Amino acid sequence: MKQSWIIGNWKMHKTTREALEYLERFLPLIKGREQNVGLIPSFFSLSAVSERLRSTPLLAGAQNMHEARDGAFTGEVSALMLKEAGASFVLLGHSERRHVFHEGLAQIHAKLKRALQEDLRPLLCVGETELERLEGQTKAVLEKQLGTALEGIEKQDLETLLVAYEPVWAIGTGKRASLEEIKSAHQTIQAQIKKLLGKKVPILYGGSVNEENVETLVALEEVDGVLVGGASLDPESFALIVQKIYDAQAR
Ligand code: PGA
Repeated sequence: MKQSWIIGNWKMHKTTREALEYLERFLPLIKGREQNVGLIPSFFSLSAVSERLRSTPLLAGAQNMHEARDGAFTGEVSALMLKEAGASFVLLGHSERRHVFHEGLAQIHAKLKRALQEDLRPLLCVGETELERLEGQTKAVLEKQLGTALEGIEKQDLETLLVAYEPVWAIGTGKRASLEEIKSAHQTIQAQIKKLLGKKVPILYGGSVNEENVETLVALEEVDGVLVGGASLDPESFALIVQKIYDAQAR
């Protein structure tokens, strides 16, 4: 029986006080269902959140990082800083980073390399835009995003890699990809990973996941978990997602 990953990405939501209040409501609701559950707060509340999670199996992650070890990069945050603040993984290549902040393929590759060097587990996001899907480019886009991100990195350094398939058009829109689209994208990603690494890695699905659709998603053999944005902001909703996945796994 697979153990699904359940990661909540809070994006630019919640002050530290709000994040801690959230945890006081959320943690009792998921007692006994805490393995492979992660939360990604803002940089600013990462220390407080990871400190609160320290006595639990839950993981704290970061939403982004700079590719340099350190240096004159005003406003940026390094992998070392994130680790010291308690992050055990980092989101890289999220569609908002690629499309709103114009992060390119080479930069995402450099970030991934740096994260691995500093022993910070990467959760690499890949996904096509609506136009790329309409033009039949989905497979090529996914292969390119993966290929460039992982290029030249030693297989043994990628032991901890997690990947998320997040079609850009499904993020925050309520328009989840169909099960067929998800299956086929995950198969493309897994085949490419197999070619590059000679083994499988967990592939999460993200994009309008909620408590209504999560069971059907994790029932797919190809889906190893979910990356949840909007529906992770409310502790009751996110706890319901965790409960539903655990209950499905127990059946
Ligand atoms: P969403 O966001 O669940 O709000 O669609 C997912 C994500 O951006 O990771």
